[in-house]
Amino acid sequence: MLMKKYFIFMVMALSGAITFPLNAQRISSRLTDGWEFKQGGVESQAAWQNVKIPHDWAITGPFDRDNDLQCVIIEQNNEKEATWKTGRTGGLPFIGKGAYKRKIYIPEQEGRHYTIVFDGAMSNAQVSINGHHAITWPYGYNSFYVNIDSLVHQGENELLVQLENFDKQSRWYPGAGLYRNVHLVETDRVHVPVWGTYITTPIVKDDYAVVNMCIEIEGAKQSDEWPYGETINIMTAIYSPDGKEVSKDSTKYIARGQGLTQKFIINNPELWSTDSPNLYTAKTLLLRNDKVVDTYETKFGIRTLEYIPEKGFFLNGIPTKFRGVCNHHDLGPLGAAINEAALRHQVALLKEMGANAIRTSHNMPAPELVRICDEMGMMLMIEPFDDWGFRPKSENGYGKVFNEWAQRDVTNMVRQFRNSPSVVMWSIGNEVPSQWGQPGMDELLMLRNLVNSLDPTRPVTCGMDQIGSVISNGFAAALDIPAFNYKPQYYEMIYNRLPNRLVLGSETASTVSSRGKYMFPVKPKSDALYDNHQSSGYGTEYCSWSNIPDLDFAADDDYPWMIGQFVWTGFDYLGEPSPYDTDAWPNHSSMFGIFDLASLPKDTYYLYRSQWRKDSPTLHILPHWNWEGREGEVTPVMAFTSYPEAELFVNGVSQGRRKKDTSVAASKIRDGWKEYKDYTPEHRAEDATNLMNRYRLIWDNVVYQPGELKVVAYDADGKPVDETSVKTAGKPHHIVLTPNRTSLTADGEDLAYITVQIADKDGNIVPTDSRKVEFSVKGAGSFRAAANGDPTSLEPFHKPQMSLFSGAATAIVQTSDNAGDIVFEAKAKGVKPAKLTITAL
Ligand code: GAL
Repeated sequence: MLMKKYFIFMVMALSGAITFPLNAQRISSRLTDGWEFKQGGVESQAAWQNVKIPHDWAITGPFDRDNDLQCVIIEQNNEKEATWKTGRTGGLPFIGKGAYKRKIYIPEQEGRHYTIVFDGAMSNAQVSINGHHAITWPYGYNSFYVNIDSLVHQGENELLVQLENFDKQSRWYPGAGLYRNVHLVETDRVHVPVWGTYITTPIVKDDYAVVNMCIEIEGAKQSDEWPYGETINIMTAIYSPDGKEVSKDSTKYIARGQGLTQKFIINNPELWSTDSPNLYTAKTLLLRNDKVVDTYETKFGIRTLEYIPEKGFFLNGIPTKFRGVCNHHDLGPLGAAINEAALRHQVALLKEMGANAIRTSHNMPAPELVRICDEMGMMLMIEPFDDWGFRPKSENGYGKVFNEWAQRDVTNMVRQFRNSPSVVMWSIGNEVPSQWGQPGMDELLMLRNLVNSLDPTRPVTCGMDQIGSVISNGFAAALDIPAFNYKPQYYEMIYNRLPNRLVLGSETASTVSSRGKYMFPVKPKSDALYDNHQSSGYGTEYCSWSNIPDLDFAADDDYPWMIGQFVWTGFDYLGEPSPYDTDAWPNHSSMFGIFDLASLPKDTYYLYRSQWRKDSPTLHILPHWNWEGREGEVTPVMAFTSYPEAELFVNGVSQGRRKKDTSVAASKIRDGWKEYKDYTPEHRAEDATNLMNRYRLIWDNVVYQPGELKVVAYDADGKPVDETSVKTAGKPHHIVLTPNRTSLTADGEDLAYITVQIADKDGNIVPTDSRKVEFSVKGAGSFRAAANGDPTSLEPFHKPQMSLFSGAATAIVQTSDNAGDIVFEAKAKGVKPAKLTITAL
């Protein structure tokens, strides 16, 4: 009888027929406004300034060679002596203290429970309420929370967050401040705690799926008498991706219980995949004495992951290779300050290229990124650490606190993200020196076992680079998936020696390139340095440890046990400006990206797209065709294309047909090397040259003359099916603006990315222009930031002007809270200005 009553209640409640009493509801607020910030910490003489969270105190610069200048030996890069590493962490002023304070209002205390959740605070956070210490959290990338019931009183309370960054704490730009969101969560005394549900789908068939939901409940009163505690009724209904109720359950919970598992059958489940990211929602009500005291929502997906020895990785039974990229957390000109529109823009660009996965190297992601990957269909390898406790790479980094904090950090990470279908693998670290043996093995086992105990449904991996050690000392064999950074030439040897029977490229390529810059002669080269501090856009240059993309494509294509790769990196990031990292200021951002720091695609974008998008053709030629002064000189041309064959024409004159040479097998790249140590730089360049003929069409002997470069593509039957061309642009004439979106949300956070270029009078883009462009924004939005992708540029991101680099820059415009038109204008000396209207709704 009671059950029936509860069900009626639940159905009514879930259909919105009843209104919950206000004080029974869970109220979660994002604390974005009302903050004050003091650079230098509370004790500094600086004034408090009003800021909005998320906030990165260092991104406005100025850039300076002396910011976090590090004199270090990078063992991972085979260095033997300490040298000055300029721009290693981005050259921005992130070191030192910062304090944030804000009032929080507590409406009532009786029977209520208040928790503050930090999505991440950079770093060494000390949180206090009304002058009383609430929590300490050293690691800047992790989410953490604290209950503040005993520290608050009814009415206004003061929240203070003190942060401190150290020199040599990182190998890239970490950001600074409350750069991720902060939430105040108010619930009833009886409630589901933060990350208090865990959903798994142990059985997935075509016609039904089993869903288990473990739910934790806190705050119910216990007693010494029968039934030994307060009885709480838990009601959960599951909603399909289109919002229909598909399953439900009502269960009693007695306070002494250790959480509880509800089980559901879902008929004809709509599976989550990268193409169809279907999400179900579990809505849970907690009732005490017939009264709803808490409501809790969990999004989840139904999908199967199978990592099958020798055969590969299967998503929902379909053989799938990881076409992944590694990304650092910064958002280029926005710095580390998280912004959902910026993340969506990144994920959309990556999907358009055909990527299906991201590795969050080498730290926990913002929760927004995980949600976006769930929603947009992008798989994730989540990785918490670049350092463990043994011989850490960064002197003042995580290694200092690993022993004390690693368990808490891993616990929060897994609990926070284990319901996300996009998460398909946990990586417990990156290139940790612990690979060399004890005590590293103990660290590995501790982390692996902890992850397994919190989430047995996903495999554990680790990005390894000490191939010889990890094969012989058991480190690699102790992982579910052995994952290696670089050296595809050893994959076969690794596969044959390890018991795991699968190999993953956790980091691949690290090809260095600059957008729109081309170096001659064109040939595969390691550590090439030029006077202009750029790397070649042909995608032929790499570092001493890395390679061109073509080698990784071959490994993916030829080895079924190779489950794919994560390219280093999807986007350029602040810091690590290899190969210009040693006393090479002003370089201060990376050159590894497929996209530059302004989110603009480099040529390698098309190379990846040509392999990764089987459903949509790619036909791209390079270089640009504006080579004043190179007339009569050999200027090689490449086509990055999904078509097997093409013919090139210069001003209508055929330069011949080229066909991809599919006979060059991956196994060829290691011919003659029995042991990994024998692979020389010359071998590497030779392999690269061979493999390039399999994945690119190359015309080595084209002689430059201005005019038109045209390529006609042929299908497998030799029929002409597509063409594209590039023309020598004439005199710069007008500005061209291309926004990624023209309709935004008026929420004060949404962004439009506007590509700014110059065209000649006929509309041909001028690929070499470098003039400064000034921006103005009027109406329902404001200028947020600009970037040009030049790793040597010291121009501040937050000023409404930017010099073009290789003829392009990106301006970012942000909405206000008001709906209306946003008018963006760009002007520059010597060319006609341009105007664009974006609508904010
Ligand atoms: C790897 C490392 C990455 C990045 C990369 C650059 O060894 O794991 O964090 O430094 O090299 O190629």
